[in-house]
Amino acid sequence: MLDTSARPFFARLAHRRAPLTAVLVFGLTLVSALGACNSETVAVAENRELRTALVRQGVGPYPVAPQPPAAQVALGQALFFDPELSGNRDVACATCHLPSQATGDGLSLPIGTGGAGLGPDRQADPTRPRVARNAPDVLFRGSSAWITVFWDGRVWGATGPGYMATADAYLPHDLENILAAQALFPLTAREEMRGQVGDTDVFGRPNELAAIDDVDLHAIWAAVVDRVTAFPDYRALLTEAYPAVAPEQVTIAHIANALGAFEVSIGNSPASPWDRYLGGDDDALTDAARRGALLFYGAGGCSSCHSGALLSDQLYHNLAVPQIAPGKVPVQPLDPGRAMVTGAPEDMFAFRTPPLRNVAVTGPWMHNGAYTTLEGAVRHHLDPATALKTYDVEQLSPELRAAVVTDSASAGGILRAAAVLKTVDPLVKAPRSLTEAQVDDLLAFLEALTDPATADLAALVPESVPSGLPVVGP
Ligand code: HEC
Ligand code: HEC
Repeated sequence: MLDTSARPFFARLAHRRAPLTAVLVFGLTLVSALGACNSETVAVAENRELRTALVRQGVGPYPVAPQPPAAQVALGQALFFDPELSGNRDVACATCHLPSQATGDGLSLPIGTGGAGLGPDRQADPTRPRVARNAPDVLFRGSSAWITVFWDGRVWGATGPGYMATADAYLPHDLENILAAQALFPLTAREEMRGQVGDTDVFGRPNELAAIDDVDLHAIWAAVVDRVTAFPDYRALLTEAYPAVAPEQVTIAHIANALGAFEVSIGNSPASPWDRYLGGDDDALTDAARRGALLFYGAGGCSSCHSGALLSDQLYHNLAVPQIAPGKVPVQPLDPGRAMVTGAPEDMFAFRTPPLRNVAVTGPWMHNGAYTTLEGAVRHHLDPATALKTYDVEQLSPELRAAVVTDSASAGGILRAAAVLKTVDPLVKAPRSLTEAQVDDLLAFLEALTDPATADLAALVPESVPSGLPVVGP
């Protein structure tokens, strides 16, 4: 329970300003001077309180990565926007990580191969499985402080050669960072980029990537390398990026490293109001955002999970977010979250704490986009059990409404809300009541995490790509 008594003395004093000034008979000029003086005093006191909390909690500026070599970035940029990397030649990384959507896709659940259109208007091919989880943005993911990727952290490791990962033995050994490791996986996912057995590509030719056995990741990656190196322009870009590597020595690691380099380069200059504040600028935040930050790092309890420089503890918590089909094999229509990696019952429905930079412009929110307003996502935290039971499916796009896994649909025993609530995180279990004004302040803080550059990232889209296929974007 939060009330004004939790607020600093000066803030309370400010609220009493009107009655105080009313009894003062010093004339208008002096009254307004006092007012200005008081709000400045409040700002000073709040800044002091906030900076103390940040120091105590070890919250520092985003740890920027070394800028990757320009030639690798250029290669990675071409690859990122080129549908040649997908089995049916119809989907690029950018299909789900669009510059115009701050590198998300604006959908609750992404639509991979077979879809039509881009962004929030993209339409699914109803005969194909939907991707099970929301596409996160890919900005500010390149720091060496990141040791996890994906909502369930199934790829993890420290930056540098020698990754630890679930697919440890399978992964190439010469990956440069965790983004490079991540980039290997969408290429192999059938519903995202690879396609189904028997598919033909946009030219009507057989999809050779889809024909490869699911477990033979190396064969899939080798086939992607063959596709890329078939184009003289890619061979030239590869030689510039890796001068010591002959075209026939190119491996999937070079392609993955270049994709990682591009992603590092586009999310490596923190410039949001909050980042300016962390850089020492006391005036970077609006009054509301500063009050919101005090709640976030104080009585709101947000920073127990959205902690540190990344705004994520990189740990897994069950927030009892409504489940939306298709979910994950072998427990479809459910998505077990972290339990898929650990097999531990206590990890059921737990997902990695998402980092929050640019969160205001990267909806829909949560691991499956269950919330289509930022306010809805924030309010869910305040009382997850009630939010789950009273979830409004109307906010989803029509074709996903029926996919919400509800008690009635699961009369056959698939899911009761009780099952999801069983492992709900103790940190959010007890309902937290915030006033309307406090929720507004929290939202103002989250808005202050928006990098102004996200308003127009269209310049990231290359004019053409070496395959000659239509560039995916913006
Ligand atoms: C069909 C949509 C789709 C395509 C195409 C796609 N992604 Fe993603 N991306 C996703 C989804 C969904 C996730 C989250 C999956 C999960 O956590 O299980 C994700 C996660 C990521 C992440 C991890 C972010 C984080 O914080 O964990 C990165 C980085 C990323 N994608 C980059 C890429 C790259 C590079 C490519 C191209 C090789 C690509 N994506 C292609 C949908 C897509
Ligand atoms: C117990 C840890 C925990 C606490 C405390 C917590 N969060 Fe979260 N937050 C998470 C996790 C985990 C998710 C993703 C859950 C999911 O998708 O199933 C999340 C999701 C979010 C999202 C959506 C992000 C996105 O990219 O989809 C926002 C916004 C958010 N939290 C803000 C807050 C705010 C504001 C507070 C404080 C009122 C808060 N969180 C407190 C763990 C936490």
